[in-house]
Amino acid sequence: MTKMLDDNPLCQMLGIQYPICQAGMYSVAYGKLAAAVSNAGGLGVIGSAFMDPEDLRREIRLVKNETDKPYGVDILFAEVQGGDATAGGYTREVEEHIEVTFEEGASVIVSGLGNPGRIVSRAHAAGMKVMSLVGTSRQAQKVEAAGVDAVIASGNEGGGHVGRVGTLPLVSKVVDSVSIPVLAAGGISNGRGLIAALALGAQGVWMGTRFIATEEARGHINYKQKIVDIDEDGTVVTRGHSGKTARIIRNKFTQYWAQHEAEIKPFPYQLREVGEPASALGRIEGDAENGVLAAGQGSGLIDSIPPAGDVVRQIMQEARTVLENWS
Ligand SMILES: Cc1cc2nc3c(=O)[nH]c(=O)nc-3n(C[C@H](O)[C@H](O)[C@H](O)COP(=O)(O)O)c2cc1C
Repeated sequence: MTKMLDDNPLCQMLGIQYPICQAGMYSVAYGKLAAAVSNAGGLGVIGSAFMDPEDLRREIRLVKNETDKPYGVDILFAEVQGGDATAGGYTREVEEHIEVTFEEGASVIVSGLGNPGRIVSRAHAAGMKVMSLVGTSRQAQKVEAAGVDAVIASGNEGGGHVGRVGTLPLVSKVVDSVSIPVLAAGGISNGRGLIAALALGAQGVWMGTRFIATEEARGHINYKQKIVDIDEDGTVVTRGHSGKTARIIRNKFTQYWAQHEAEIKPFPYQLREVGEPASALGRIEGDAENGVLAAGQGSGLIDSIPPAGDVVRQIMQEARTVLENWS
């Protein structure tokens, strides 16, 4: 099992030391966080959603300046129809993010939503890997058929957009359903979570909430402190943020939309008109009551705001201790 911790096939495929990947969280995971995680031996990932294309270029260059290790860019490949759709079926923003990522380069492109099938052969030709978040085994099989290199099975316990299935059954089922490597996500915040994920058959973890409460994450201290303060039951799932189900910290924003469900617009319009400005209010300006603070149930396990590299090292240390105790 020690080999699964330090040098497993996923690590080899991604060129990383430890099987710990930091989720590409929009507005929070900018270059500084991604570089810190990559430098510590994990995979740092920039969350590109809602970034101006030139800001994305700047953040990728920042990572390239701070590390020569692998890093990723996460793009929400949500397909849209009608006025907003480009010929490729994505939004203009997505098309721009794809182009900037290919121009600047990245080790991995991660699809946070939708099917990235259209860019897989182009990514492989450029020497990049493609990973896709999924919430069911059917989605996992679909993106495997589209040629992605690994899937991230993200369960309902996680922060941000979530499906209906919990991490424990989802990860096992996805592992049984595909032949490419699987990463586990949703509610994983410590070394015991990493060991549990490996026991389920995953080869690595994809962690969001744990990395928000770090020094390098882009976010107001009130947001980070709220993650430290709340317990494992301090979050709720709502469509009020984006039109799709998302897990966020319970506050006045979530209470308002619980009473106004009929007014929620479909994705991505609710996100653009309501969720994105409310995210800026909560995550960046620090209004913890009226803003959106996405976070998962793993918040209950988080009690400090350390440098991101320390998080990677602590998780590896705790995971090794579990194995030593067993043997
Ligand atoms: C603040 C926040 C923003 C997120 N934004 C994105 C995103 O832009 N793209 C994406 O693929 N996933 C996004 N996610 C979901 C994560 O990729 C991941 O699935 C989730 O954080 C895993 O659960 P955890 O938070 O319990 O670790 C976001 C999550 C959070 C908490």
